[in-house]
Amino acid sequence: MRADLFLVPSPVVEQRLAGKTLVLIDVLRASTTICQALKAGARAVIPVSEPGEAAEMRAKIGAETGILGGERQGIKIENFDLGNSPLEYTEEKVKGKTVILTTSNGTRGYARGSTSKLTITGALANISLVAQKVADAGQDLVILCAGQDGAFSIEDTLCGGMILHKLQSEIKIEMELNDAASLALLLYRSNIRSLKQTIARGEHGRFLRKLGFENDVDLASEIDAIPVLPVLKDSRIILEQE
Ligand code: MLT
Repeated sequence: MRADLFLVPSPVVEQRLAGKTLVLIDVLRASTTICQALKAGARAVIPVSEPGEAAEMRAKIGAETGILGGERQGIKIENFDLGNSPLEYTEEKVKGKTVILTTSNGTRGYARGSTSKLTITGALANISLVAQKVADAGQDLVILCAGQDGAFSIEDTLCGGMILHKLQSEIKIEMELNDAASLALLLYRSNIRSLKQTIARGEHGRFLRKLGFENDVDLASEIDAIPVLPVLKDSRIILEQE
């Protein structure tokens, strides 16, 4: 299997996706929030880039089913129902609803999902299911790390590295890696016993702690804490079993 990882969203990726599996990673926090919303019974999550688009989408699907979630600078967007803290996405708030989500970085990557054969939301919270699905799909893999405002982020790269580690060392798939994938694998293997600390000390971990979201960082760093498999179907993220 060929596996290419991109440390930051890159325009090159779009030409390389046809027929492949795409894993979109934003550990802090969009991917973790998507997993949590679906686990709590949301029907679907619709990822959009801008708050205005989110409001238009809700007008289209109706205020009884559509709820608005998202952040800018880590804080809930004005007039939105929910922010981007996975812990806000409880059954009480989202069960049976369609969440329209816009975040600073994480939800932007989903527009690329139209060219890939399979698009999966990847986080540490669902990592074992993601690795197994990638293996079962059997096609080449592209891992796209959301990063932070166009810059590298350590938690997304660690998560990408851990997926590759699982594929290579646990599921025993032979892989041909690009250099960024090799780097992610090395980064993960040298942090195997200190993942939580490394993430908490990273830029985004520190930023979220300052805003009072330390519980989000803890949850997002917990391996397989939210064992669901969100996949993109017709521009909506749903649980794979549907
Ligand atoms: C993002 O998309 O940049 C993140 O999910 C931001 C956040 O932590 O809320």
